[in-house]
Amino acid sequence: MSIHTPKIDKKITLGVLAKMKGHEPITMVTAYDALFAKLFDGEVEMILVGDSLNMSFLGKEDTLSATMDQMIYHTQAVCNGASLPLIVVDMPFGSYTTPEEAIKNATRIYQETNAQAVKLEGGRERAGIVEALSQNSIAVLGHIGLMPQFVRSEGGYKVRGKSQEDIDVLVEDAIALEKAGAFAIVVEGVKAEAARAITQAVSIPTIGIGSGNATDGQVLVWSDMFGFFEAFKPKFVKSYAEGAKMIRQGLQAYRDEVKSRAFPSEDYTY
Ligand code: KIV
Repeated sequence: MSIHTPKIDKKITLGVLAKMKGHEPITMVTAYDALFAKLFDGEVEMILVGDSLNMSFLGKEDTLSATMDQMIYHTQAVCNGASLPLIVVDMPFGSYTTPEEAIKNATRIYQETNAQAVKLEGGRERAGIVEALSQNSIAVLGHIGLMPQFVRSEGGYKVRGKSQEDIDVLVEDAIALEKAGAFAIVVEGVKAEAARAITQAVSIPTIGIGSGNATDGQVLVWSDMFGFFEAFKPKFVKSYAEGAKMIRQGLQAYRDEVKSRAFPSEDYTY
C-alpha cells in the first residue's frame, strides 16, 4: 500500500520555501493555462510558467521565440487557476539583456499578472541583472546548468558538471546568484555530484531537473511527465501518466460512437 503525502493547504511564500531547505523536498511543475493550474493547485509548492510552452504548446523547435506578451497571457491564465502555489514566470529570451530592460519587463509581469517571481537563465554573468531586480523588489529564481535559452549559441543541449573544473564553475555561478539576491536556483541537466556540490554551497533552495536527487526540490514539465509531449523524451523524464494514449483512446471511442450514432443516446439528449 502506498502512503500519500498530504495535500498543501496554505499559500506558499518565499519564506515558506526558504524554511524547506534541508527539511522537506520542494515540488514544482510547469503550467500554461488555468485548467491545468487548477488541477495542480494544492498539489505542488511551486508552478513555473516556463518558456517551454513555446515548444510543448506552440510546437516551436526551441524556447527562443517566446515573447513577453505570450508569457504574460499564459501567466494570467495560470494565476486564474491556482492560488496556493508560488507562481514563477520565465523571462523570455532577450527580455533581460540589461538591468534596465530586465526591470522594465519584470515590472510589467508584476503589474499585469499575480505571479510572485520571475526566472532567468545564467550564472555570474547575470548577477548584476539579478541584483537590479532584487533591489527593485522583484523576486528572482536563478537557472544554471543546461540552459535552454543558450541552445543556439552553445550548439545543442549539453549536460554540465562532468569535470571538477565545470563543477567549480557551476558552484561559483550559484554562489554569485545567491549573493545577488536570488531566492532559489533551478539546476538543470547537471551530473548528480555537481548538483549536490551546488546544493551544499548555497543556503537558498536548489530545484533540480535532470540533475539527480540531491537538490532541495524537483521540477518537471507537465506535458512531459504526464505523457502528452511525444516529440522526444529526455532520460530524466519519468512518465506519471499516459496522457497521449488516454486521449487517443477517448477520441477513438468518441469517433466510433458518433459514426455508429450510439452517441448522443437518450441520456445525453434534451
Ligand atoms: O521552461 C521551462 O519549463 C523550464 C524548466 C525546464 C525548468 O525552464
